[in-house]
Amino acid sequence: MPHVVTARCVGCRYTDCAAVCPVDCFFEVADPAMLVIDPDTCIDCELCVTACPVHAIYPEDEVPDVYQEWIEKNAELVADAENITEQKEPLPTARDLEVVQAEEKEKGWDVEEPSNAS
Ligand code: F3S
Repeated sequence: MPHVVTARCVGCRYTDCAAVCPVDCFFEVADPAMLVIDPDTCIDCELCVTACPVHAIYPEDEVPDVYQEWIEKNAELVADAENITEQKEPLPTARDLEVVQAEEKEKGWDVEEPSNAS
């Protein structure tokens, strides 16, 4: 059961996750601008969950209903993505967690945070 990067990452791409991953399972996607996890490589160590400033990463069995499609999308998008193992500057469009949560509320979504997020 791998971990999954959700749409919270799109337009943020903080990359803290890639820097802490012990098995180098993060890949950078150009469109949408984000990282995804290679589900065949992830070992469920959970280090990335606490590293992400916007709580974009969930264990597969905790992915909120509104982000379920991202389980498949991580597996699909990784095929054309570049492996990334070091931190780099976030995107200029990066938001903080409060802004991301406010955007979800505006859509009428009530999104649970990952249970291990700090
Ligand atoms: Fe995205 Fe969070 Fe990693 S915003 S790039 S999942 S640290």
